[in-house]
Amino acid sequence: MAKSLIKLNVNGEVCEVSVDPHKTLLEVLRNDLGLTGAKYGCGSGECGACTVLVDGEPVLSCLTLAVAVDGRNILTIEGLGKGGKLHPLQEEFVRRGAIQCGYCTPGFVLVAKALLEENPNPTREVIREYVKGNLCRCTGYTKIIDAISAAAERMRKG
Ligand code: FES
Ligand code: FES
Repeated sequence: MAKSLIKLNVNGEVCEVSVDPHKTLLEVLRNDLGLTGAKYGCGSGECGACTVLVDGEPVLSCLTLAVAVDGRNILTIEGLGKGGKLHPLQEEFVRRGAIQCGYCTPGFVLVAKALLEENPNPTREVIREYVKGNLCRCTGYTKIIDAISAAAERMRKG
């Protein structure tokens, strides 16, 4: 099948990739661009481990064809910290023990980033509802909600 040349802005860098029409964004990120932060969990839209932001919106990259995001801005966990410094969300996940095996973490952090852009002061219930598409087998969720709340507070204070 003929490949298509697509252009993606990934973490602020423009890259051109030649892709098969059936290739997912997750495959392109992990296999073509070497960005392995987004994880392959279920491959069927059930776990959120593959979440990245496309133009600021959370997207399940295992269900998104790469050709469908031609020309768009993609943010993966690798692009979240700036100047060698972790994002407050990443720092709070570490500080509050919201990471165990870490498989779910990039997806949670990126979904939380999208939430805090939209609503800088969410209640715990709002956070819980917003991240409900992301599964964690290790932490029991409470520490994840704690970390997102704490990061929100820090970010509001600047
Ligand atoms: S790997 Fe995409 S939702 Fe599970
Ligand atoms: S920390 Fe292991 S799945 Fe969430």
